[in-house]
Amino acid sequence: MIEDTKRILLVDDEEVFVEQLREALTHAHPDFEIDTVSDGIQALEKLGGGEFDIVITDMRMPRMDGLGLLKEIHSRQLSVYVVVVTAFGNVSLAVEAMRYGAYDFLEKPFNMDTLEIALAKIIRQQEILKENIELKGQIRQYGEGLDQIVGAHPRMQRIYEQIITAADTDLTVLILGETGTGKELVARSIHHRSTRRGRPFVTINCAAVPENLLESEFFGHEKGAFTGALTQRIGKFEKANTGTLFLDEIGDIPLTLQAKILRVVQDGKITRLGSNREIDLDFRVVCATNRPIQAMIREKLFREDLFYRISVFPITIPPLRERTEDIPLLVNHFILKYGKRLNPKVKGVSPAGMDQLMHYPWPGNIRELENIVQRSLVSAPGDTIEGFPFLGAALQNSAPAEALPRAAEPDLSYDAPYHELKDRILDQFEKKYLKTLLEKHHGVIAEAARESGLNYKTFYLKAEHHNLLHKRR
Ligand SMILES: Nc1ncnc2c1ncn2[C@@H]1O[C@H](COP(=O)(O)OP(=O)(O)OP(=O)(O)O)[C@@H](O)[C@H]1O
Ligand SMILES: [Mg+2]
Repeated sequence: MIEDTKRILLVDDEEVFVEQLREALTHAHPDFEIDTVSDGIQALEKLGGGEFDIVITDMRMPRMDGLGLLKEIHSRQLSVYVVVVTAFGNVSLAVEAMRYGAYDFLEKPFNMDTLEIALAKIIRQQEILKENIELKGQIRQYGEGLDQIVGAHPRMQRIYEQIITAADTDLTVLILGETGTGKELVARSIHHRSTRRGRPFVTINCAAVPENLLESEFFGHEKGAFTGALTQRIGKFEKANTGTLFLDEIGDIPLTLQAKILRVVQDGKITRLGSNREIDLDFRVVCATNRPIQAMIREKLFREDLFYRISVFPITIPPLRERTEDIPLLVNHFILKYGKRLNPKVKGVSPAGMDQLMHYPWPGNIRELENIVQRSLVSAPGDTIEGFPFLGAALQNSAPAEALPRAAEPDLSYDAPYHELKDRILDQFEKKYLKTLLEKHHGVIAEAARESGLNYKTFYLKAEHHNLLHKRR
């Protein structure tokens, strides 16, 4: 986290109070630079040089009072955060102070904890502001196609550079990263920055298409090519002609199809099923997977030659827990993105809430963060998201398989024939079992199937039967 020295100006005519406050603050933050003055006029003189980050000011003072000082700061557009302190508990004064841009309001006597909370909020706010400014600079520097990707961590800077380099070539790119790290986002940026922008960007989610349909999905078919092929169909490779084909979840392509894909990627020619005419195509391939592809090669689940062909330009996106500095930035981004629609009152997250986010391991990465922010926006009662009670809720089912919840006693009054009842119970069990595994694996069918011991196709069909598969884009 960014931890700059904070420069604080204390403004109060009560000398004893100022000294106590200075001591307490110095004790808690040895790195803070603290200066004191006894009225608004002196304060303005000091502030003119722009050397302070935060002003903590009393309300009632001789010469120029707190409100006068605030108005001056406001009209001179000085960039400091002002915390107003007053002994009088005057609410209307507080409201007025806020109107002139006071960031927070404390009633005397206050304890240090209250002040610390106010300071932490300000420091957070400043950091976000600073990060956003840096980020804007970055976007300007990197330009088009990257403006959807948020992240200032050095590893993300590296990713931006890789996107730019990859976009300037026509090489096949392999994007690796855990679920929800932004692989598709990166794939799209490469396309949008390349000379193929404005041309089709076609996605095939190899994990979401049943094995028996994949081939026709890839290459298309002629009418009557197989039972059920009632009309001609154009495959995704053909649709991607002149543009980019995004082979998402390429690790899930069945071994039997891998050789064919290799050939097509190499030669740029396809043949529709049921036809013997080769079609010449011009496409660029970008692939992505969240599977441990090297290990799959060792286990002979993924062809090594295909791997070498597609990983000419590999890009590995780090998981969110390895770049926690980006969390506040992303939270801010999603509040801006969804706040308007979901809850325009919300301005930010409390320091305690942010702390919660910073210490969570994010197995679902940015997609999970995005969901959490959306849910919290909807349910936040005030202008700040105070905490994240749902954090990890999606993980409830991440216990090892042997600890999966036992199928609850089904709700049955034993009033039907044996076989019918048995089928119903099995059906309930199956749905719950598949759902639990899918949630555990963040919807990645291949992984859920592997844990279940069922083969991919069986798992897919059963899950589909129970309506457990969400349509992906
Ligand atoms: N760096 C980022 N900045 C802003 N939003 C991001 C970033 N990375 C991901 N997202 C958002 O998170 C969500 C998931 O991203 P995306 O679909 O690209 O991930 P993925 O790696 O393809 O996930 P999966 O492996 O599950 O397919 C999307 O809504 C995307 O817009
Ligand atoms: Mg994806």
